[in-house]
Amino acid sequence: ARPVRPGHYEVVQRAAKVEIIPGTVTEVWGYDGTFPGPTFDLRRGSRTVVRVRNELSVPTSTHLHGGVNPPDSDGYPTDLVVARGRGFRPPPGGHSRHGAADMSQWTIHPGARDYVYPLEQPAATLWYHDHRMDFTAPQVWRGLAGFLLVRDDEDDALPLPKGERDIPLMICDRAFEEDGSFRYPSLDPSLLVRPGVEDAYMEGVEGDVILVNGAPWPVLEVDAARYRLRLLNASNARRYRLALTPGGRFVQVGGDQGLLAAPVEHDAITVAPGERFDVVVDFSAHPVGAEVTLVNTLGTGPARNVMRFRVARRVRDDSAVPDRLGRVEPLERSAAVATRVFDFRRTGQGGGGSWTINGMPYRPGVPLARPRLDTTELWRFTGDFHHPVHVHLARFQVIARNGRPPAPTDAGWKDTVDVRPYEVVDTLVRFEGYRGRYMMHCHTLEHEDMAMMADFDVV
Ligand code: C2O
Ligand code: CU
Repeated sequence: ARPVRPGHYEVVQRAAKVEIIPGTVTEVWGYDGTFPGPTFDLRRGSRTVVRVRNELSVPTSTHLHGGVNPPDSDGYPTDLVVARGRGFRPPPGGHSRHGAADMSQWTIHPGARDYVYPLEQPAATLWYHDHRMDFTAPQVWRGLAGFLLVRDDEDDALPLPKGERDIPLMICDRAFEEDGSFRYPSLDPSLLVRPGVEDAYMEGVEGDVILVNGAPWPVLEVDAARYRLRLLNASNARRYRLALTPGGRFVQVGGDQGLLAAPVEHDAITVAPGERFDVVVDFSAHPVGAEVTLVNTLGTGPARNVMRFRVARRVRDDSAVPDRLGRVEPLERSAAVATRVFDFRRTGQGGGGSWTINGMPYRPGVPLARPRLDTTELWRFTGDFHHPVHVHLARFQVIARNGRPPAPTDAGWKDTVDVRPYEVVDTLVRFEGYRGRYMMHCHTLEHEDMAMMADFDVV
């Protein structure tokens, strides 16, 4: 993305026709008409204003995932931008699944609005995406997502791969109709409240084609050198277990919220929706001409194929992965001033079923917690299914899974954690930056849309 003047950006949400499956045309809804949207490459401390203009037929709300932002710039689901000339009415009375028929819960910005991002946070791989009440899943599926990278001196000073060898990879699955258009069980919003249709996507929608930065099964020519790959799972519901064939390891240097204290090596990485893994892969271990593939070992058929790297040439490589990376002070359990349990569970069955937190479907404006600014709390997440739990504003450290030490992939500061079926995940959450209304939710977007969301107020 290029600024219109220093610190100010403008993006237009609009429909565009692109070629994703060769020989076919797909209409995407994109920031600046692209999918993924433009990548913002910004520095810590550089206050940034992004004006989002909506030219789509639907309202939108933009959330910067992982951003520490004032509450009115957080992309609250009922804080909407509506295209000029289009009206907005909240969902009809009795049918508002989330009890938000009341107009007082909605804020409508006609045409465009500014989001303010102070970026007073460490270097990290953030991403922005739509967050509209009830419709996040179909709108992200159509393309409303992109990267925002925060860089800082601490990260720059490390000898990690840089420039052309530092690559963000947005991984997501989609399904397509024969003519190339996106297939989604319920792209027509009027279908959303019909029982039966809800069932079709209750558990979350998966596609059978994996896209990387919007392209199916792409090839990247690489030097026989180290690369820093910033992996993001931007899928609505699919989880990946990423591995390299014929071989290779991931040296993880960062997580959701930036650098780890020290590198962690993995043969495979499970990535739930919303999570980021910043890894270094060394292609010099392979001969020139070799093809190294990134596969999803949880998938079969085309859902197994993520992308290919073709080793093109031998080069000199000055990069390295140092033993010490960032300053990550481990939080102590004793630092928690409160303990809260959030249980992510399905209630009811069939068309009347809903995804809830602590038995409650989402109600905007009704906070489930009021943590104090500049304190740490222990938040325990439990659930009945795979629920990637995401907390806005506050970063956290995972300290236990089922009472045992967390997984190697739980290292560092996170904002999204994969809570597996019937698991008990303990996190220490730091509330810093701003007071006000924020939210947590399941990042399986269909669960989020079906009310698996809750407000919390930082006081
Ligand atoms: Cu990535 Cu509240 O979302
Ligand atoms: Cu869920």
